[in-house]
Amino acid sequence: MKATAAISLLWQLLAFEPAAVSACLTAAEMRGENHISVLHRRQRMHNLTNEGTIPIGVGDRFQQGTVLPVGIGSQAPANLTTVYNVVEIESATRSLVREYNLQYFETPFKTYENATMFGIKIPCAATASKAASNASYTVLLEAGIHARERGGPDHLLNFISDLLWAEGHGTGLIYGGVEYTAAEVQKARSVGVVVLPLVNPDGVAYDHATNSCWRKNRNRASASPNDTFSIGVDLNRNFPPAWDYRKTMAPGTTDAISDKPSEIVYRGTAPLSEPETQNVAWTMDQMPDLKWFLDLHSMAGMMLYGWGIDTNQGKDKSMNLVNQAYDGKRGAIPDNRGRGFVYGEYYDPEEYVAATLAATNVADAMLAAGGRNYFAQQSAGLYPAPGGSSDHPMFRALSDPAKHKWANGFTLEFGQPNEKAECQFYPTVEMHQLNMMETGAAFMEILLSAAKLS
Ligand SMILES: *[C@@H]1O[C@H](CO)[C@@H](O)[C@H](O)[C@H]1NC(C)=O
Ligand SMILES: *[C@@H]1O[C@H](CO)[C@@H](O)[C@H](O)[C@H]1NC(C)=O
Ligand SMILES: *[C@@H]1O[C@H](CO)[C@@H](O)[C@H](O)[C@H]1NC(C)=O
Ligand SMILES: *[C@@H]1O[C@H](CO)[C@@H](O)[C@H](O)[C@H]1NC(C)=O
Ligand SMILES: *[C@@H]1O[C@H](CO)[C@@H](O)[C@H](O)[C@H]1NC(C)=O
Ligand SMILES: [Zn+2]
Repeated sequence: MKATAAISLLWQLLAFEPAAVSACLTAAEMRGENHISVLHRRQRMHNLTNEGTIPIGVGDRFQQGTVLPVGIGSQAPANLTTVYNVVEIESATRSLVREYNLQYFETPFKTYENATMFGIKIPCAATASKAASNASYTVLLEAGIHARERGGPDHLLNFISDLLWAEGHGTGLIYGGVEYTAAEVQKARSVGVVVLPLVNPDGVAYDHATNSCWRKNRNRASASPNDTFSIGVDLNRNFPPAWDYRKTMAPGTTDAISDKPSEIVYRGTAPLSEPETQNVAWTMDQMPDLKWFLDLHSMAGMMLYGWGIDTNQGKDKSMNLVNQAYDGKRGAIPDNRGRGFVYGEYYDPEEYVAATLAATNVADAMLAAGGRNYFAQQSAGLYPAPGGSSDHPMFRALSDPAKHKWANGFTLEFGQPNEKAECQFYPTVEMHQLNMMETGAAFMEILLSAAKLS
């Protein structure tokens, strides 16, 4: 057994010791320091700078979709010293579409600031091109749902660029200490991939403009006029799984979701109340054979598999998230200390093996790529987080099995905190390049797992 797998197993046996760094929230935020007072939050959040971190690109280096992004796994990219701005994310996407004759699509719901979300479809073979049916796409990859987690869209687009470039040139890919053969590149491409490179365009544009360490979208519908922190919904708490946490979860089991708009983990007014999450759900619904979903986040150095609600169990099929008999019982980890087992989320054992294998492969490859530790572990092991995107593909299959097949969802937390930065989610240039290498290997592994395990 490889080291990462052993460590991850150990962590599970240790019954979820709280991690030093928590996915997508800083240690201070996990201690509740974002809850304390508006004044306190102002002092913490409003004076941030991006000093010592990778700057945001100016202009459009992809020149309106005519210059390709150059990936780190296939060539030596000249331009990894700034983060792609919102214009560049779309422009890079359009150059990939133009160069490789891909299908570009727009999602139906416009954001609060009227941005249109978009995606691309990479069919199972170059020759399949645009004629491929929606059923031939089995993997959905997305980035940019949390605004401040800088670099996510860049990593995803540069990986796609690597994959298609290598396939076109009949070569393999190299991400630091990990090498993939040309045959593996072909195999990775063969699964049919849909990509949503920028799930939170308003939030990312705002974060880039203000360096405010902004996480949510920019919806003002629930905001109070005097509290700028009450703007926005945490999109990764707006999905349907256990969203109604006061009902679905045991009392006091989760601080990672809130019904107060001023909180950084505000869930919104209803499940899928936000256009961005509706667009993600819509994209999943266009993929009748969706089997694997990965949502890219930073900066906890972890590959998280589901569920994100409670510990998993593979014995009692009826003990699951849509069974209301268990409402109010979920989320205690460990269950009622000393008083025995109360609730575990059902995960089909075969699917569980596939999901944990894939997650372990991803974590191992990231370690091998960059030399930094990555842990594969269950998402609920960090803290139960209702309303998350990566539980949605599993939850919809439970809710409506006639309509939706089961798909395994993952949250990949790339990178490590930038301790020297005021916003720890803003990497340095060196960290950004290392993150690019590690995520390249991670994306390859998830596609190879999809090819092997589907
Ligand atoms: C931080 O913001 C406060 C209030 O907006 C201001 O008085 C103070 O000078 C700022 N500090 C820095 C270091 O910018
Ligand atoms: C790199 O990007 C900058 C803008 O961010 C652009 O001016 C420059 O021409 C680019 N260089 C290359 C080699 O693409
Ligand atoms: C978005 O578009 C709607 C309808 O065109 C308009 O009423 C609204 O003011 C726009 N909002 C922003 C933030 O531009
Ligand atoms: C908002 O700020 C204004 C001006 O500072 C003040 O008059 C008003 O009472 C505040 N409202 C609330 C709800 O705090
Ligand atoms: C296939 O997916 C696209 C979006 O990617 C959508 O516009 C189209 O309606 C779908 N086709 C069918 C037959 O569902
Ligand atoms: Zn995140």
